[in-house]
Amino acid sequence: MISRETIDEVKSRLDIVDVISDFISLKRSGQNYKALSPFSNEKTASFFVVPAKGIFKDFSSGKGGDAITFVMEHEGMSYLEAIRFLGKKYGVEIKEDVQSDELRDQQSEREGLYILMNFAKDYYKQKLFESEEGKGIGLSYFRERGFNDRTIQKFELGYALEGWNNLSDEAIKQNYNKELLEKTGLVVKNEEGRTYDRFRGRVIFPVHNLSGKVIAFGARMMGKDKNQPKYINSPETEIYHKSNVLYGLYQAKNIIRQKDNCFLVEGYTDVLSMHQADVENVVASSGTALTEEQIKLIKRFTENVTVLFDGDAAGIKAALRGIDLILKGGLNVRVVLLPDNDDPDSYSRKVGTSEFQKYLAQKSQDFISFKSGLYAAEAGNDPIRKAESIKEIVGSIALIPDPIKRSVYLQETSHQLKIGEPVLLTELNKLLIDERRKKDRDKLQPSRRPSESTDELEEQIKDLTAAPLDAKDMVYYQERETVRLLLNYSEHALDDQKLVDFLINELDDVEFSNPVFREIYNHFHELLHQGKVPDSQYLIQHGSSEVKNVVTGLITARHEISPNWKKKHIYIPNESEVLMDLANTNVLRLKFRVVQKMMSDNLLKIRDSEQAGNLDELENCLEQQEGLKKAERELASLLGIVVAR
Ligand code: CTP
Ligand code: MN
Repeated sequence: MISRETIDEVKSRLDIVDVISDFISLKRSGQNYKALSPFSNEKTASFFVVPAKGIFKDFSSGKGGDAITFVMEHEGMSYLEAIRFLGKKYGVEIKEDVQSDELRDQQSEREGLYILMNFAKDYYKQKLFESEEGKGIGLSYFRERGFNDRTIQKFELGYALEGWNNLSDEAIKQNYNKELLEKTGLVVKNEEGRTYDRFRGRVIFPVHNLSGKVIAFGARMMGKDKNQPKYINSPETEIYHKSNVLYGLYQAKNIIRQKDNCFLVEGYTDVLSMHQADVENVVASSGTALTEEQIKLIKRFTENVTVLFDGDAAGIKAALRGIDLILKGGLNVRVVLLPDNDDPDSYSRKVGTSEFQKYLAQKSQDFISFKSGLYAAEAGNDPIRKAESIKEIVGSIALIPDPIKRSVYLQETSHQLKIGEPVLLTELNKLLIDERRKKDRDKLQPSRRPSESTDELEEQIKDLTAAPLDAKDMVYYQERETVRLLLNYSEHALDDQKLVDFLINELDDVEFSNPVFREIYNHFHELLHQGKVPDSQYLIQHGSSEVKNVVTGLITARHEISPNWKKKHIYIPNESEVLMDLANTNVLRLKFRVVQKMMSDNLLKIRDSEQAGNLDELENCLEQQEGLKKAERELASLLGIVVAR
């Protein structure tokens, strides 16, 4: 067991913001920080960190607790693993009370797998640097490819000796469990039940998880034996699920956050070479199309992805499909096309660091523009191919969740393809409607999991946030939140005024668009002006049946606090304690959404006046759009949101 003093020491050095920032990108929000929930797929940040109390709370999954809980939840670690991990981070020496034999018995299988993978990583490393074969073949291979010692150390590269049982023999000699060894995938069993090492006579690329533990290996062959695969990789195990791992993310995550951009390449060696060219915000998909989980993983650190393409024409189109999934994940995608026959590894070495960096900066272009350009050039004046191109490109645009971005892209595409915007818009709407229908159909299937919350409205909101949101929907969501705050906390004191005064004053110039919410809001507004105390009981008794439904739905507690937390003495603030922040953010958000809605309405007017040739009107609308954009940016910066464009 880890000693009590060690645990206390680790706890005393913890800084929750620092700990959580290693995993997700936090944005300051008043005294606190917030982020998109790492535990669910959400579009509005509902993950909060309250540094003053040393806690986090994730409203979308209900998880919450202190820094240690976060690491446990996020990394799937046990309590002691989390303490060890944090101890290492803060340089606290971990003192164990009991002999490690006993400890080994207690260890879960997962922990055992981590230990074995770590052993293997060290073993391969040692062979690379210390054995004759490793130095003569492996190390000189890396050197020939231009990898320096710093890179080799940073990525913990290694070498697996020729021969069937080198690694297994060493593991057995060191008393590691044989069954567990098979479960790591490092050892393979043949039909006769004999075991042998999976990786032999190959250089080794360890794959790390987000906290730096080795969970898999890729092994590249030496020489050019046509009968062997170039790379052999670890199989899926208890600790390795290929679809939610990105090679290089551990080494890159902080820089990705810092640069607010992530380069995406295909191969292990591309990642290594880019690091050597001082482009360290890079991850590899390891040769396959990106999965949804991998996209979410990137999204924890940035919303911007730049995909590097090897410039062979056939490959490009196939690769474009993979990118659609990234768009769907709500990320902004740029692309860089590399010269024919070069991958990032070969090209960066060919031209050198500064040329390579210059190339990336100069050649990077927005994905949709890139795709339109590609198809425009191809289709020329052939009407049929032009029609196909439109379908292709609008198909991609339809995947973008943000309606404002969609409009902007539609405009651009219209220019590039020389096709009127209305044609594109019709096509786009067709796709969006189809998509909605499909979603609705899916909803009728009985396969839905029983939901934790019975609140019907909550369900609707979840569905709304899962579907590509219209500006209209987002206004709905924010209006609803405003009304919820009014209903639950109107009498609450914020600094020197009541919440109801604050909200009504701030929102004086906002007209609610949902009739039910408007009715409720107006009730509060009127009574307040008459100097009376508005209350929800009145609405429940006298409101229309819609109003009643909404009010009762919204005054039911939204989030239950798990009794376990109380047992564990973990302190969770209730909503009323963060009310000032909540009210403030909510007002800003509602205004933000309303402005966005006005922009998308105005965009339609722009289009109509353009078509009708009404230049006065057009000028008017354009001016208005500028003003709205400015307002949008100001609100966004207050909210800590970065607006694309
Ligand atoms: N890959 C794999 N198995 C293979 C071939 C490729 O797993 N048989 C994966 C590896 O992750 C590899 C990536 O796909 O890094 C890209 O493949 P490729 O471009 O062929 O390899 P490079 O990374 O360019 O490797 P090298 O430069 O050493 O040829
Ligand atoms: Mn290569």
